[in-house]
Amino acid sequence: MKKIAVLTSGGDSPGMNAAVRAVVRKSIYEGIEVYGVYQGYQGLVTDNIKKLELGDVGDIIQRGGTKLYSARCPEFIEPDVRKKAIANLEKRGIDSLVVIGGDGSYRGAQRLDEEGIHTVGVPGTIDNDINGTDYTIGFDTALNTIIDAVDRIRDTATSHERTFIIEVMGRDAGDLALWAGVAGGAETILIPEAPSDIKEVAERIETGMKRGKKHSIIIVAEGVMSAGECAEELRKYINVDTRESVLGHMQRGGKPTGSDRVLASRLGAFAVELLLNDIHGHAVGIENNRMTKTSFDKVFEESHKIDEGLYRLSRELSI
Ligand code: F6P
Repeated sequence: MKKIAVLTSGGDSPGMNAAVRAVVRKSIYEGIEVYGVYQGYQGLVTDNIKKLELGDVGDIIQRGGTKLYSARCPEFIEPDVRKKAIANLEKRGIDSLVVIGGDGSYRGAQRLDEEGIHTVGVPGTIDNDINGTDYTIGFDTALNTIIDAVDRIRDTATSHERTFIIEVMGRDAGDLALWAGVAGGAETILIPEAPSDIKEVAERIETGMKRGKKHSIIIVAEGVMSAGECAEELRKYINVDTRESVLGHMQRGGKPTGSDRVLASRLGAFAVELLLNDIHGHAVGIENNRMTKTSFDKVFEESHKIDEGLYRLSRELSI
C-alpha cells in the first residue's frame, strides 16, 4: 500500500468523525500518507481531496456529523464518472480507500475495488442494517436519542391520557424501532420485518383501557408506514385521542455515545490494518465483540435480518 484515502458517504451518523480520526491516526502511526476526500463520492469526482495530518482530526472524536461532509452521489453508478474518481486518486499515488457509510456506499466501494483501488468499507449508518456486523457506527447514539424522545413523550402521553404514535428512521430496517421500543417500554412496535396488524393493535389498546391504562406508545418504523397513516388506520377500529410525532433528522445528530466512539475507533483502525495486509474488497464489522471482515459480495448476499428473539420478547413484555 502506498497512500490511503478516506471518505464518508450517504446519510451521516454519529461516530463517523471518530472513525475518520482512527483511519487517519492509524495510517500515520504506520507511516502511511493519508488523504481526506470531502463530500463523499462527489468529492472523489470533483477532486476535493486533501492530505490530512494528525492535527486535522484533533477535537472531532466527540462531534456528531462528519468533518469530511457527506453526499449522496447516484451518478457514481456510471463507469465514466468512476474513471474520473480513480484518475483523481491515481494522480496523487493513492491506491487504497476506506469508505465509511451504509450499504449504498458499499456498492460504490465494491466497484472501485474491482476497478483497481483497494477498498475497505466501514459500517457507518444509524439504521444498523448492514450484514457482517452486529452493530453499525451511529446506531447506539441514534437509539439513545430516540429513547430520550420517547421518555419525554411518555410524560405528556400519561398526563393527557393519549395514544402517541412515534415514527422513527431506519429506512427498510426495523432495528431502531425495535430496540427503542423495548428500551422505551412501548406498548406496540411496528417494524417492516414483521406483519403489521392494526386491528390487533387497536384490540390491544382496548384491552389495556379496560384494565385502566389510558395512554399508549406506538413506535412505527418509517419502513412500515408514516405516523399519520398509522393514526388513520387506527381510527378505523378505535376511537382514541391520538397524537403523532415524527422524530426525523434529529435522530442523526448529536454527540456519539461512548460505545459508538469505541466501535468507530476499532473499526477505522482495523480497516487500515486490512489494507496494510493487502486485504480489500471487504467490509469490517464487529461480531460477538470480535472484529471481522466480510467480502462485499457476502454483505449483499442476503437482506438484513431482525433479531427475532428480541422481537418475540418485545411482544411478551408489552402485554
Ligand atoms: O440511512 C440513514 C437514514 O437516516 C435513514 O434512516 C433515512 O431513511 C434516510 O437516511 C433519510 O435520508 P435523507 O437524509 O437523505 O433524507
